[in-house]
Amino acid sequence: MERLVIVGGKKLAGEVTTSGAKNAILPIMAAALLTSRLCIFDNVPDLLDVKVMCRVLAGLGAECRLQGRVLTVDAAHAEPVEIEPDLIRRLRASNLVMGPLLGRFQRFKVAYPGGCEIGARPMDLHLKGFRLLGARIKEEYGFIEAEAESLQGTDIHLDFPSVGATENIMMAAVLAEGITHIYNAAREPEIVDLQNFLNKIGARIQGAGSDTITIEGVKNLQGAEHSIIPDRIEAGTYLAAAAITGGEILVRNINPYYLASVLAKLREMGADVHPYSTEIFLRGPSRLRAVDCKTLPYPGFPTDMQPQIMALMTLAEGTSIICESIFERRFKHASEFKRMGADIKIEGCVAVVTGVNSLSGTCVEASDLRAGAGLALAGLVAEGTTYLEGLQHLDRGYEQFEAKLQGLGARIWREKI
Ligand code: UD1
Repeated sequence: MERLVIVGGKKLAGEVTTSGAKNAILPIMAAALLTSRLCIFDNVPDLLDVKVMCRVLAGLGAECRLQGRVLTVDAAHAEPVEIEPDLIRRLRASNLVMGPLLGRFQRFKVAYPGGCEIGARPMDLHLKGFRLLGARIKEEYGFIEAEAESLQGTDIHLDFPSVGATENIMMAAVLAEGITHIYNAAREPEIVDLQNFLNKIGARIQGAGSDTITIEGVKNLQGAEHSIIPDRIEAGTYLAAAAITGGEILVRNINPYYLASVLAKLREMGADVHPYSTEIFLRGPSRLRAVDCKTLPYPGFPTDMQPQIMALMTLAEGTSIICESIFERRFKHASEFKRMGADIKIEGCVAVVTGVNSLSGTCVEASDLRAGAGLALAGLVAEGTTYLEGLQHLDRGYEQFEAKLQGLGARIWREKI
């Protein structure tokens, strides 16, 4: 087992470059199953989740080759065979193969992904969309099975703008007959990237980034090359790290527009933030100010930045309130922050965080990916040494996490235990 050792007290300074977005590459890799032609992706982040998704695609008969930042996917011989339940459990986003398999082969069988550390995470909206497109769905013995004679374009109203459901339905509808409208669609930038890739392989989709997406079914798809957009949550995490340490950093290779809600919150907390066309400069204040924050679908404040902003609140002057409206159990990191001396009270989906003067280093464990990031940020300012365990979560979604922080001057390293 490995853990991160973080010696707190160093103000971050310097420049860091954002990697490709985890939440863009995963659906786009799944989308490559739609075509029998070669797809080549660039700016692919070196993440555990990408490697697990390669295994999922390989299990379906696709060939994946990862060389540095370039990934090629050849799904010419793909088949809609059953995917190992273990892989589905390791990577929830592997459920994104459902839409492409249904679109190309009119069937799939995948293990039910179940809940996870941050909430129940049902699949009802994905399946409702597939049913409306004409699929028959069976949910039994822990599997979801779908079959259709043909898929017909239709109008789909999502009860909630789910990212995964929007992506799965978009991918299933690409080869359907006629026109599909997805209303109340999720508007995340990663959905725009998926649309751009799908259109490159021959799909006819418009509206991604707005709440209505229109997919005009096509008969044939080709191969394409595509460069993955930068990871806004990774960029946001480093900006938050600079803010909590009172440091001064420049984050390169990021579209500031995608982080507008996070930048606004960091400014409210007292940070000096300057967005440029593809870079963001941030100077942290000597003491952060308390703020209130509600997580919402994009363009609201992202739930994937909630543990990081909570880290900042633990040291801010005054009392902050977080309302977590996306995932019902996403506060497990609060008890770990409390072990470091934070003052946090949780009541349902609300956290009340009263800023303290200092945190102290101790042994803490990440319960999920972003919880790990939040705890690492707390470790950067805590007095003494913080030992962060649960790195299997962090490695799922941050490329060279400690190396990038070291580049900004942090005293952080990995050790075997
Ligand atoms: C994606 C992101 C994840 C992010 C989340 C919310 C990827 C690979 N993952 O996850 O990092 O935290 O968006 O921004 O892109 N829901 C239902 N029924 C459904 C589907 C979802 O009730 O059929 C609910 C979920 O339980 C949750 C909410 O909708 O409460 C949001 O989930 P969703 O947007 O689907 O998140 P994911 O796509 O799983």
